[in-house]
Amino acid sequence: MEGKKRENPHLMEDRIRTLKDWLSQIQESKEGKKGRIISICNQKGGVGKTVTAINLSAFLAAYRQRTLLIDLDPQGHCGLGLGIDVDSLDRSIYDTFLNGTGNLTETILSVKPHLDILPANIELAALETELVNDSHRTTKLVDRLQSIKHLYEYIIIDCPPSIGLLTINALVASRMVIIPIQSSFFSLHGFERILETVGTLMETLSLDIKVYLLLTLFEGRLRESWIVREKVKSAFGKHLLHSVIRKTTRLNEATRRGISILEYEPRSMGCYDYHQLAKEIMEIE
Ligand SMILES: Nc1ncnc2c1ncn2[C@@H]1O[C@H](COP(=O)(O)OP(=O)(O)OP(=O)(O)O)[C@@H](O)[C@H]1O
Ligand SMILES: [Mg+2]
Repeated sequence: MEGKKRENPHLMEDRIRTLKDWLSQIQESKEGKKGRIISICNQKGGVGKTVTAINLSAFLAAYRQRTLLIDLDPQGHCGLGLGIDVDSLDRSIYDTFLNGTGNLTETILSVKPHLDILPANIELAALETELVNDSHRTTKLVDRLQSIKHLYEYIIIDCPPSIGLLTINALVASRMVIIPIQSSFFSLHGFERILETVGTLMETLSLDIKVYLLLTLFEGRLRESWIVREKVKSAFGKHLLHSVIRKTTRLNEATRRGISILEYEPRSMGCYDYHQLAKEIMEIE
């Protein structure tokens, strides 16, 4: 029903102002030394987090960067999107969280040269309740990654569409967060809360996180896409990545077939867009 209502432009200006304040605080934080751990976060669903996590990882791997893709979403879409039967896994990231570092390497699966995945499935949904009395519950992931992060040039974390314990664990472990924003007025609602969360975490836990925004599902034929791009660009400047991910059915098809766009349709515009993104990320990090 979103399409029936028009976003009030003044409300949007206010929202952008609030977000800009958060970003300026984030930018002031000092450089961290956590390695290249990048979370893909937005509590809004369906904005392209998983497609970005899968295809960015695939391109980094194609550049011979050893990459680990971590699925932190109980939906298990990263595994599914890479052709893994996540419902029949012997072990998943859920065991990693609960059982310590011992079996982490046993849980990691090799997808192709330079690309590994730490898959998830529905079991992960129980974690929040199970860890409720654990005083180290927000640092589980960062602790578990200590023993393996030297094995990888990049670790990409796909977050669920909520800001609960899993997303907090991802942010605590990360040096960079990429927030995919669907190129529509309504998407601005989506990243307000996550920026607040990032800001609060930084204040309370002294985290160093670089924040970048990525426009996704961009439709060049729609004026709305261009307006949102201009608004976000003028408000956030260098926090907005130059790369833009356009809407294309090829990306949808590749995910459904369980392969990256690089393997599915190397000459498609989806392939071009994620290639550009990977190059931009490698330049930043
Ligand atoms: N650039 C794109 N062009 C066309 N379809 C896309 C694009 N990006 C994502 N999609 C499709 O949109 C849907 C949502 O994408 P995706 O699963 O990556 O979003 P998400 O943010 O991870 O969702 P969730 O919050 O549920 O995890 C999927 O069907 C996906 O194939
Ligand atoms: Mg997803």
